[in-house]
Amino acid sequence: MVAFYYEEPSHTFGEYLLVPGYSSTQCMPANVSLRTPLVRFKKGEEPKISLNIPMTSAIMQAVSDDRMAIALAKEGGISFIFGSQTPEQEAAMVKRVKSYKSGFVSSDSNIKPTMTLGEILALKEATGHSTMAVTEDGTPTGKLLGIVTSRDYRVTRMPMDTKAEEFMTPFSKLVYADADTTLSEANDLIWSNKLNMLPLVDKTQRLRYMVFRKDYTDNKDNELELVDGSKRYIVGAGINTRDYAERVPALLKAGADVLCIDSSEGYSEWQRITLQYIHEHFPEAKVGAGNVVDRDGFRFLAEAGADFVKVGIGGGSICITRETKGIGRGQATAIIDVVKARDEYYKETGVYVPVCSDGGIVHDYHMTLALAMGADFMMLGRYFSRFDESPTDKVKINGTFYKEYWGEGSNRARNWQRYDLGGDRKLSFEEGVDSYVPYAGPLRDNVHITLSKVRSTMCNCGALTIKELQEKAKLTLVSSVSIVEGGSHDVILKDKFSSR
Ligand code: IMP
Repeated sequence: MVAFYYEEPSHTFGEYLLVPGYSSTQCMPANVSLRTPLVRFKKGEEPKISLNIPMTSAIMQAVSDDRMAIALAKEGGISFIFGSQTPEQEAAMVKRVKSYKSGFVSSDSNIKPTMTLGEILALKEATGHSTMAVTEDGTPTGKLLGIVTSRDYRVTRMPMDTKAEEFMTPFSKLVYADADTTLSEANDLIWSNKLNMLPLVDKTQRLRYMVFRKDYTDNKDNELELVDGSKRYIVGAGINTRDYAERVPALLKAGADVLCIDSSEGYSEWQRITLQYIHEHFPEAKVGAGNVVDRDGFRFLAEAGADFVKVGIGGGSICITRETKGIGRGQATAIIDVVKARDEYYKETGVYVPVCSDGGIVHDYHMTLALAMGADFMMLGRYFSRFDESPTDKVKINGTFYKEYWGEGSNRARNWQRYDLGGDRKLSFEEGVDSYVPYAGPLRDNVHITLSKVRSTMCNCGALTIKELQEKAKLTLVSSVSIVEGGSHDVILKDKFSSR
C-alpha cells in the first residue's frame, strides 16, 4: 500500500488568466447580472435564496457582525455572523439585522428637556448628530416633546446652561407621522414640508423612528438589496458541530435565513451528524457546510444534505493551517475539482448544490477567476475587514490608517470559549494570526468598484451572467515569467519621484 499522489501540483488564482472571447454589442457592464444561487435547488426550480451579488462575508469576529450584515445586504450580498461568541450574543446580532428597517433610524442621541445647551453641544461633538429628539425621559422611545437642531440655538448669544425645553422646537410645531407610515410616504412628507427629519410616533406620542432626508438617496440607490418576503434584510449565521442543539434553535428563532457550519476541515462525521440534527428538527432550515477541497469531500457533504458547500483549506490571508498542520490545497485547483463533483452530482440527482470559494482572494480579478472556474459565490474575510463597517478598531500607524484583522483560529478569537471550561477545548496550537490590513473606507464604494471590474471582465469574455461566464470562460495557466510581465515593468513609476 502506498499513499495516493496527485499527478499535477495544485494551483492558486494568481497563476491563471482569462483569455477574452467574442463580445457582442450587448456585452455592456450595465447588462450584466451577478445573481447566483445560495442554496441547493432541484432542476427546473428556483433556489429558496439567491444572492444579487456573489459575495458573502466570512464567519469571523473581525468581519461579520450586524453592522456588516446590514451594509452587505444593502448591496445584495449576505454576511454570516460569527459563531465564536455565545449563542445569545450571536442570536442578538441576527435579531438586530432582522429588525433593522431601512431608512427608519432608532434615535441614538436622545436628550431630556432639562439637558443644557452645553451638554447638548458635547453630545453633538461626540455623536456627530446635529438633529436630536427630546423625549420626556431621555430614552429613544420616550414621549416625544420636541427636537433640537442647530437652527434652534445660537452658541454666541445663548448661555450654556439654557435648558433644551426653552429652545427646542416643541412637539406642537413639529410635522410628524404615524409609526406605521411607509418609507415612501415618509419621504413624500419630508419633501412636501421641506423637512430634514420626520419623527414617527405611536398613538401615545412615544417616539418610534426618525426618517432622515439624507437617507432618501441611499435607499433609492439600493436596487440590488437582499430582503426577505417581509422586506427585512437577509442574514446568515455561523454554527459549530458541538453546541448546535442550543445554538441552532436560538439563531432560527432570531430569524437567521441560513446557517453555515464553520470548520477549517469539513469532511467529517461531525458535520454529517450536525446536518442530520438540523434536518430532523428544523426541516425548513437552510445550512451550508465545509470546508473541503476535493470531490470526495463535496460528495460527502452534498449527500449529507448540505445546502451549499464551502471550499478552501489553508488559503485564507490570516491562515497558517498549511504551515502548522500541513493540510490544504491551492485554491484554484480545489475549486476546479469540487465544481466537477457538483456538476456530476447535478447530472445524477437533478439537485444543484452551490459551491462557495472561501479565502485566498487577494485581487479583485481573483473573484472573476473563481466564478469562471465554477464557484457560485465567494466568502471573503480580509476584503471586508478593511471597511468602515467591520467590527474592528481603526488604528493610525506612521500616518496611515489600518484596521485590525485576526483569524478565527488565533488565540485572540478563541479566547471567547473561556466562558465554557468543559471538555476537550484546551488549545494546543494556533491556526491563525492577528494582523493589520490597510483601511479602505466604506463598503459600498469598494464593492461597487470591485464589481464593476468583475462585470467588465465578464463582458470581455462575452458573458452577461455568471452561468454564461462559466460556460464561455477560457482559462490559461501562466508561467512565473509572464506573471512579472503582467505588472507594470521596465518603467519607473512617477510616485517614486514624488518624495524628492
Ligand atoms: P481571506 O478572505 O483570505 O482573509 O480568508 C478568509 C477565510 O479564512 C475565512 O472565511 C475562513 O475560511 C478562513 N479562516 C478564518 N480564520 C482562520 C484561521 O485562524 N486560520 C485559518 N483559516 C481561517
